[in-house]
Formats: sequence, structure tokens, C-alpha cells
Amino acid sequence: MILIKALVLAGGKGTRLRPITHTSAKQLVPIANKPILFYGLESIRDAGIVDTGIIVGDTYREIEDAVGDGESFGLRVTYIRQEAPLGLAHAVLTARDYIGSEPFVMYLGDNLIMGGITDFVSEFRKNRPNAQILLARVENPSDFGVAELSGGSVVRLEEKPEKPGSDLALVGVYMFDGKVFSAAESISPSWRNELEITDAIQWLIDSGADVRAHEVTGWWKDTGKLEDILEANRMLLGSVERGIHGTVDGASRVDGNVVVEEGASIEDSVLRGPLVIGRDSRIEKSYIGPFTSIYHDVTVHNSEIEHSIVLENSTIADLGQRMERSLVGKDVEIRKCATMPKAYRFMVGDASRIEVP
Ligand code: DAU
Repeated sequence: MILIKALVLAGGKGTRLRPITHTSAKQLVPIANKPILFYGLESIRDAGIVDTGIIVGDTYREIEDAVGDGESFGLRVTYIRQEAPLGLAHAVLTARDYIGSEPFVMYLGDNLIMGGITDFVSEFRKNRPNAQILLARVENPSDFGVAELSGGSVVRLEEKPEKPGSDLALVGVYMFDGKVFSAAESISPSWRNELEITDAIQWLIDSGADVRAHEVTGWWKDTGKLEDILEANRMLLGSVERGIHGTVDGASRVDGNVVVEEGASIEDSVLRGPLVIGRDSRIEKSYIGPFTSIYHDVTVHNSEIEHSIVLENSTIADLGQRMERSLVGKDVEIRKCATMPKAYRFMVGDASRIEVP
């Protein structure tokens, strides 16, 4: 059987998720309390791949701390520094020495694919085309790379077209053989000054290469934007099973599929699942409603939260009104202030968004 490596892209800027991504890697935002990137690494392992190169940029330290040598995923991970986010095809060229002459699967670290990639990889092993792309029907094709098919073959690809020729979006998983390196070397940067993988694949098509498409049957999400992250959180929490590993006092009520991780404590509160409360978090005199993921070491006091994600070490206290559809970063404090004058007081980072009733 041919050896297939994986190349995971975890560099880039994450401009659509600022301010969270001013300081953190977008691929590490936890969804249902697990970093997005980890779902991808697990799918790679499940497809029988071991050798995995991870492209990293400015946030390399954080990614390396989270993933380590990959052993806990059953992978052998090598980190590859990309000097700047100059495009997906640029990332491929950066990884050329690591990949060598073997075929590989490229996985964009901010994509979530429910059904995994095992079938996709098997199909490539069977047919051995030069490239294989994954497609999904979407309502907003202009936000993605778009493919046009004719009689089952891929004839045209365009990156974020104004007038899309189909509703088939490129999902962030691709397979290539060594031909992709010539393609990536032959193309020029796009209007957004990136070497686009979409253009490299079009180059392969134009030069007569065998490029095949595989349609996603299950659920898929590019988690580049807040709404997509909340939607992914909703989907993943939909399948959690109840597990109470922390402590819940007698004055609290826990309904539905609720996970309370180890060391977490729930006092005098109502938890209505599906939801997850992370390790060592404290929920006091509060209501936590459906589709909420509270990460590690968070304190929620005398507040109501629903359909939201709260990252580690943050505190939410005495909110007069329910908080919903929110993404709260690390080390954030949101609390009611008792001193006069009665007013909103903010210390908010660049590119933040606050909506008040
Ligand atoms: O999610 C699917 C879409 O991903 C496709 O439909 C598009 O054709 C494809 O170009 C890509 O579009 P995005 O604009 O969403 O790509 P983004 O800049 O978000 O980068 C995807 C991942 O790759 C992300 O985890 C960051 C990483 N990356 C990105 C660039 C540009 C790198 O590691 N290096 C880079 O140079």
C-alpha cells in the first residue's frame, strides 16, 4: 500500500475572528471543549495516516504546546514554519522537503468534517489520480473556492468568485501527488496576494492531469467566522452524552445531555443541555442553557448563558440579562459594577464586538 503523509495547515491570520485571533491561533478555538484542530488530527489518524506535517506561522508556539509530538493522537508530527501566510499553494511549496515524492492529503486546520476523511483517502488509494478534491453544496458559494463539473470531471475552479458557476464549494481537504509542486511553482499570486491552491489545481486540469472530485455527504464547516463557530458548537454538542465527573450540589438541577468535567463544581444552578462545563470551572447561582461550551477554569456567578462559548480563565458575574450567541475569549471579565454612576464600562481589545440591549 502506498504511504500517504498528511499536511495540516495551521498558519494564517484569522482576520475574521478578531479579537480572539489577535493573540491566539484560530485552529485552537475549542468547540464542545476540544480545539478545532484536534478533530482534524483524529480524522487523519482514523484514515490510517501516521506522518503528519503541520504548517505553522506566528502562533507556532501555541500550536506546538497543544499538539506536541502527536503521540497522544497516534501521529508522528513534524512542524514546518511558513514565513508568512502567502497562500495555501505557498504552504505546499514550504512543505516540499517534508513531503518528498509521496502522495499526501492536505487538511485545512480550521475545517470540521463530521464523517472524517477515511473514504476520501481510500478512494484516492484506489484510483491514484494526480489530485482529488472534496466538494460540498453550499448556499453561499462566493465565500469559497467553487468547482464546475462536466460529466463527472472537474473542468473549472475559481477562488471566491463574484458570479459562481455552481454551488459546489471546495471543502478544505485535498489529495495530491508530486505534480502539485510544479503547479504551485507555475502560478502567480491572486488579487489577495496569495498563491491559491485553487489556481494550482486549475493549472493541473489545464495541463491534462487527472483531477477527481468527491462530494461530502455529511456535515462540514469552515470555522473562519463567529456564526460558523457557534453553529459547529451546536452541531457537536448535539451528539454529546451525559457525563458528570465534577460535583453538583443538591440545590442544582441538571437536565439532558450535560458534561461536567473533572474538578468542575456546580452550586445552586440549573444546567439544561446539551452543554459542556470544563475542568475546574465554577458555576454558582446561574443558568447555563443549551448549546453552551464553558472551557477550563471559568467562573460564572449569578448569570444566565445560552448558545455560547466561553474560553479559559474568564469570569462572568452578576449579568442583569441573559447572554447568548457569544464567544468570550481567555482571561475576560464581564461583570455588573455596583458603583455609581450607573453606566457601561468597557476595556475592550481591537476589533471586538459588543451588543447591548
Ligand atoms: O474552507 C474551505 C476554503 O478554504 C476553500 O473553499 C477555499 O478554496 C480555500 O482557499 C480556503 O479558503 P479560506 O479563505 O477559508 O482559507 P484561509 O485563509 O482561512 O486558510 C485556511 C487554513 O490554512 C487556515 O487554517 C489557515 C491556514 N493557512 C492559510 C494561509 C493563507 C496557512 O497555514 N498558511 C497560509 O498561507
